[in-house]
Amino acid sequence: MRVLVLGRGGREHALAWSLHRGGAEVFALPGSDGMQDVAEPVAGDAADPGQVIEAVRRLGIDLVVPGPEELLVLGVAETLRAENIAVFGPDRRGAQIEASKAYAKTLLRAAGIETAAASLCRDFGEVEQTLAMHPERTVLKADGLAAGKGVIVAEDAAGARRAARRLLQQHGTVLLEERLRGPEVSLIALCAGRDYALLPTARDHKRLLTGDAGPNTGGMGAICPVPITPDAEVCAERTIAPLLHLLAERGTPFQGALYAGLILTERGPMVLEYNVRFGDPEAQVILPALEESILPWLEGAAHGALPNRQLVASSAAVGVVMAAEGYPEAPNTGAAIDGLANAAKHALVFHSGTKRRENGFETAGGRVLCLVGRGDDILSARTAAYDAVACVQFPGALWRDDIGIDAAR
Ligand code: AMP
Ligand code: GLY
Repeated sequence: MRVLVLGRGGREHALAWSLHRGGAEVFALPGSDGMQDVAEPVAGDAADPGQVIEAVRRLGIDLVVPGPEELLVLGVAETLRAENIAVFGPDRRGAQIEASKAYAKTLLRAAGIETAAASLCRDFGEVEQTLAMHPERTVLKADGLAAGKGVIVAEDAAGARRAARRLLQQHGTVLLEERLRGPEVSLIALCAGRDYALLPTARDHKRLLTGDAGPNTGGMGAICPVPITPDAEVCAERTIAPLLHLLAERGTPFQGALYAGLILTERGPMVLEYNVRFGDPEAQVILPALEESILPWLEGAAHGALPNRQLVASSAAVGVVMAAEGYPEAPNTGAAIDGLANAAKHALVFHSGTKRRENGFETAGGRVLCLVGRGDDILSARTAAYDAVACVQFPGALWRDDIGIDAAR
């Protein structure tokens, strides 16, 4: 089995690691120097379907696994399927569930899935009217892909007005959403039409600094699994199954990873957003926590039938992201990274933004590494992850001290 992963970050490194573990020969386009332990990099532009198809033919690839949402939104999955190439991931229409928050809201309503009440506003007058009637709608969202930076949780209506002005100027529309409260969890299902297999739950840590301070980032660390109430199966029956049914009924069945960003409120689990891919850094903790490789699931979904068994977590995993100085606004790159070999004695080392240099690696992105410790429980996994962090040095390195601390208590 020869698999081509599209992308170059930590999530793609983790995907390649899991596929490799399942016995696949893994290639990554473009991949990175840091993932060469499990995947052979293939030069090229993953956003150019011609280059991807050429690589698939040349390398005799059996399955393509796109990592980032941008590629799915561009239509890479349907382009490859039209060439009879097996792909794990939704077509362009399926990717709109992530790309357009307004479209996702209409689907949620049609499927009867619980979500925050929201109004789409096209001008400031509509914002004023909405806030006058619903002062609790203080969460503002830009429509479109925003790499996690399109959401503003304002403290009050005045803050919401200020932020709405800015988003209207930048995007032309803004979604005003009811603010919900409760713990958050990432629930990811591998889907083939109406069928799905749940991955163990994970929790991302989006803020830059320890104690949930500082700006939002792509994610500074994650844990897996997260004990939740109601349990993951019940959450999925309420938030994933109805959407898959609706899409299948409409003749547009969903194939790929459906990631529900849930908030567990007093009213029950509610959907904050859907993504149509694995999370980053969630993939880096979920895949290593699994007893087995995800290869049979991705291959099965791509051919229309998932394996008839459950995906079981055999350990807990905690991933700590080490980011570059200046992240997320203007990360410094080019700093030499020391201690990777020692870190690997304690944890898995996934490369998010690094580049090879003489005698080692240097920083080449905002998020640089994700160090993933495993153990019988979150506490021991956390200890292993931070033992690895203590081995790694590069100038200006940033990381949070508190990944998994709540769950470990
Ligand atoms: P999203 O990209 O929609 O997942 O939003 C990013 C983050 O903003 C979420 O992880 C939540 O922490 C927060 N958020 C989004 N929507 C809401 C909401 N309706 N109520 C409270 N917090 C929210
Ligand atoms: N970790 C959040 C995401 O991948 O969207």
